[in-house]
Amino acid sequence: MNVGIDKIGFFTSDYYIDMVDLAHARGDDPNKYLKGIGQQQQAVIPPTQDVVTLAANAADQILSEDDKDAVDMVIFGTETGVDNSKSAAIYVQSLLGISNNARSFEIKQACYGGTAGIQMALDHIALYPDSKVLVLAADVARYGLKTPGEVTQGGGAVAMLLSANPHLLRLDGQSAFHSENIMDFWRPFYKREAIVDGHYSTDVYINFFKTTFEDYCEKYQRTLTDFSALVFHIPFTKMGLKALRTVISDDAHGQKLLSEFELSKQYNAQVGNLYTGSLYLSLLSLLAKATDLKAGDRIGLFSYGSGAQGEFYSATIADELDRDALANQVEPRLAQRTKLTIPEYETLYSTGLPTDGGNVTFDKSHDTGRFILAGRQDDKLVYEDTKKS
Ligand code: HMG
Repeated sequence: MNVGIDKIGFFTSDYYIDMVDLAHARGDDPNKYLKGIGQQQQAVIPPTQDVVTLAANAADQILSEDDKDAVDMVIFGTETGVDNSKSAAIYVQSLLGISNNARSFEIKQACYGGTAGIQMALDHIALYPDSKVLVLAADVARYGLKTPGEVTQGGGAVAMLLSANPHLLRLDGQSAFHSENIMDFWRPFYKREAIVDGHYSTDVYINFFKTTFEDYCEKYQRTLTDFSALVFHIPFTKMGLKALRTVISDDAHGQKLLSEFELSKQYNAQVGNLYTGSLYLSLLSLLAKATDLKAGDRIGLFSYGSGAQGEFYSATIADELDRDALANQVEPRLAQRTKLTIPEYETLYSTGLPTDGGNVTFDKSHDTGRFILAGRQDDKLVYEDTKKS
């Protein structure tokens, strides 16, 4: 089987806050945020961006016109859906002009939705090798102002095109998964912010990692030394580090995995949690920055979605990596962002679609994205393609 990720694109908003500023505003020691949590900056998502526009902007970076014709499945993993019935995938399909001859739908299981999409895409392409699948993973992570979770917010989208004979990552179909009904993090219908039992959630995450990693090793007769790097779902970068430390020793291979992890967290430290997209932004960071990785190297991926679902699976690097092109997906976007003051962020945080309905038109003059949420009219979301309007 030679199926996997052919292209990866990324998008986040035009705004961020600095974690030192947030620490000062909340009366905390900045080192708690920078070192204890491991975050430097946090994306702030304005009302003119939601998961549809974030994902459409991310996919727009990677899809050629031929890709749009060849895609016969659009899978959208998110826990920040824009409608209780209609999938975000249908909106993106139409905004991007992807063929209508496609299955288009949304998947939800907290931060795990993108991984569910990838596994489904793998099965689909194994059956229909000429097809291409667009997997979108986009979210806006919100816990509330002045809460312990605030430092772990963020938002953005990762778009992945899966196909036969991929250029980036070959999925080998080897995987171990585990699910349990757990209340570590959830978001009732009436809330925009997640409810979280923070310390419990970090314990469950570690347990699920250890369980799935051990199951994987037993199932496929592998050990840690079979992996050139491990990448993690990164709600905050210290979380991945904590998980990695449970399986490495103080030897040369342990040191190598630690230094690869340092590279894999670079982008996440500047964006924050993007829930479904976090693992895949970390993968992008690793592939763009780890100059010693080469074709054929095996990578382990740990996906975790609260509630809870964990999966550890493996893949190998397909071709020689074009690191500049990968970095170009992320770094110019991060570099052009505007830093907000904490009061500016707090104002933006409280702005959005009215929860009790009604028409609204947003000021979109400051948004540089191609795709923008202009507002809501007659209970219909109004999306704009600025190249056409
Ligand atoms: P907290 O209780 O405010 O922080 O919230 P803390 O007191 O535990 O401190 C954090 C770390 O900073 C500790 O390090 C402190 O020692 C250190 P640790 O012991 O953990 O290694 N520290 C300092 N370090 C240096 N200098 C200092 C200093 N002071 C303290 N001066 C918590 C932390 C993560 C619980 C909170 O932010 C939270 O609830 N976040 C949201 C939940 C979350 O992200 N959970 C992760 C696992 S669940 C998951 O990944 C799924 C998720 O993505 C959702 C989904 O699936 O959809 C969240």
